[in-house]
Amino acid sequence: MQHRSGRGWTMAGTTPHEPAISGRRARAGHAEPPDDAVPIAELRDEATGCRRCPLWRNATQTVFGEGPEDAEVIFVGEQPGDQEDRAGKPFVGPAGRMFDATLEDADVDRRKIYVTNAVKHFKFEPRGKRRIHSKPNAGEVQACRWWLDKEIGRIEPRLAVALGSTAAQSLLGKAVPVLKRRGEVIERDDGLRVFITIHPSLILRIREPEDKDAERERFLNDMRKVKRLMAE
Ligand code: URA
Repeated sequence: MQHRSGRGWTMAGTTPHEPAISGRRARAGHAEPPDDAVPIAELRDEATGCRRCPLWRNATQTVFGEGPEDAEVIFVGEQPGDQEDRAGKPFVGPAGRMFDATLEDADVDRRKIYVTNAVKHFKFEPRGKRRIHSKPNAGEVQACRWWLDKEIGRIEPRLAVALGSTAAQSLLGKAVPVLKRRGEVIERDDGLRVFITIHPSLILRIREPEDKDAERERFLNDMRKVKRLMAE
């Protein structure tokens, strides 16, 4: 089956569950997920054996999304880092701590949001004993969109937050200049609104303290906007 080639989706593949990208229910009631939407626990189980791209070979495990199935907002990062790969949970390393602290300052309760990544295996280059993050390529992002679509199909969030360019690419099916468009909401063909912001690891990479503080403040303002959008 062909899915929305205009958004860059391609053949759905041959495994039993097609991506749940059609027939989004009306937002207003936020009632039951569509009948064909697979529960997150089942998706997580299926994804443990994912071989849709070669990244599984070197990673410790698949890091699937986490959060309530009735979350109104889904936050999407790039891919698990070193600590996430070991823990099997998204955003628990340094970027996760920056993310958590900013959410707390913006009064967004992480327990009420669903947090996931565009790519669910850690891609890295070994350097001595260290594993250095390596950006996933377009093919890897495309292959893993299978899972993100299924997560969205199950949760049916009212809002998605793209944390950085890989997430924006995956959610919108095209490259988005994140620094130019941060703070904006872009609506997808299926009606899902996607809020664009930076990846929190960008803040960690800034060395100059004043610049770091300023970027952290901008990210906090973005999270405050998300909080307001959640309330709409
Ligand atoms: N960076 C991400 O994009 N996701 C994580 O889970 C951790 C770091």
